[in-house]
Amino acid sequence: MPHQIHRVAVIGAGTMGAAIAAHVANAGLPVLLLDVPPSTLTPNEEKNGLSLASPAVRNRLARLGFERAQSSHPPAFAGPAAEQLITPGNTEDDLPQLAGVDWIIEAIVEQLSPKLALFERLDAVRRPGSLITTNTSGLPIAQLAAGRSADFKRHFLGAHFFNPPRFMKLLEIIPTPATDPAVVQALSAFAAERLDKGVVLCKDTPNFIGNRLFVVGYAHAVQTALAGGYTVAEADALTGPLLGRPKTATFRLLDLVGIDVFAFIAQNLFELIPHDPYREILRAPQFTALFSELLRRGWLGNKRKQGFYKPDVDAAGQRVFKVLNPATFEYQLPLPPHFEAVAAVANIDDIGARLSSLLSEGGVTDRAAQLVRSLLCFDLAYAATVAPEIAYNLKSIDDDLRWGFNYEAGPFELWDRLGVANMVAAIEAAGHAVAPWVKTMLAAGVTHFYRREAGRVTGVVNWDTGRYADLPGNSEKRG
Ligand code: NAI
Repeated sequence: MPHQIHRVAVIGAGTMGAAIAAHVANAGLPVLLLDVPPSTLTPNEEKNGLSLASPAVRNRLARLGFERAQSSHPPAFAGPAAEQLITPGNTEDDLPQLAGVDWIIEAIVEQLSPKLALFERLDAVRRPGSLITTNTSGLPIAQLAAGRSADFKRHFLGAHFFNPPRFMKLLEIIPTPATDPAVVQALSAFAAERLDKGVVLCKDTPNFIGNRLFVVGYAHAVQTALAGGYTVAEADALTGPLLGRPKTATFRLLDLVGIDVFAFIAQNLFELIPHDPYREILRAPQFTALFSELLRRGWLGNKRKQGFYKPDVDAAGQRVFKVLNPATFEYQLPLPPHFEAVAAVANIDDIGARLSSLLSEGGVTDRAAQLVRSLLCFDLAYAATVAPEIAYNLKSIDDDLRWGFNYEAGPFELWDRLGVANMVAAIEAAGHAVAPWVKTMLAAGVTHFYRREAGRVTGVVNWDTGRYADLPGNSEKRG
């Protein structure tokens, strides 16, 4: 069988590289973990008489990455046996060893020129036929392969893990036009079977699927919450489990991701999508002003122990999370948000019934329902507008958000449960255009994005034809 994967190398032993190496080792494969050799000695190394030529120094960054993975929470390694499978090294002394591996995973800093320089070196040492992937979050995959050999290009693709790689189900796979389909097939099968990943095939477009929808959607959520006078705590109370999303909701998630990381991606994305009718939201006034001020203050989220939230101790010595007041930049103890309309639906388990009830019972005047309606309308409208640009089929967008962001339902699954025609009317009333393919589908009498037969999902709408296409396997059972 071609493209068997027995030995793996990961280059870049930072947050992602070390954790990806651990996850591959969890599957029982030996992993060479490489980082750059350092250019200066630490005081400790000097004290111990080491020099820049000492192997312990030269492998220091990869070893530190490995040790971080060993002590990470949640644990990156499944157990000590997996830890033994990691060999730390460096990209000067150990590059020739790459000739012996079947899959090279690049996870170095997110900048074009270091990645291009690394790929040039890898092209010279790798074994023809070995797979090579990049973990880039948003650099164009085809651009990263520019100038490389034909064999490199045939075996090169994006394989974008989500953090933490052991626990996030999603792996976005992004081939270029030059990638051999057999390589896509082999890596997808390996990732699903050996790494327990949910694989989503993405088009090579800015930020691929998950981060495109995430960044635009969350910029909109921040802008809408601020413009509507919702507090940070209120917005989080309305955008977490109520919407079928994790408790990190909106602002807690931004703290986790990093205010600087989010601002950087939003800025980059804006430049890369001049054709996108929604891109102005990435420059929305309140969102931009708030993020600029947080960047200026260095309040970057969890890594700086303050962002939208700040851990503190109250008068009784209890740990509390104070919340940012974006108007004054003071941290305050939040009053637990209370919304009558939310309390009335909170016990409805089914997400479709819960949100439909909130939107109808809450009418147009309830503050909670207003924010929820506004965010849902925007997110659904945006997903339908960009779907054909970023994805090969509609289901992959839903899979991506469920597996990569732990949503209970992706946008089209949720839209089906809220009623496609209902939400078309709500989206238009909110001032957004509905993608023409959705209207064509409704005009043809197709009322749902997914076809259900005897309680099973058996088909999904094809946006080119407005008709159902059978789902592969056709056997997945959904609620
Ligand atoms: P990081 O900054 O934590 O680690 C990068 C590592 O690469 C560092 O250890 C650095 O010393 C090393 N490095 C830099 N240049 C190198 C070179 N030429 N050769 C070998 N090693 C080199 O970065 P992080 O967060 O792990 O990101 C790595 C990649 O994964 C980036 O492309 C990023 O966009 C992507 N990514 C990051 C996610 C995250 O949550 N941090 C999530 C998904 C993707």
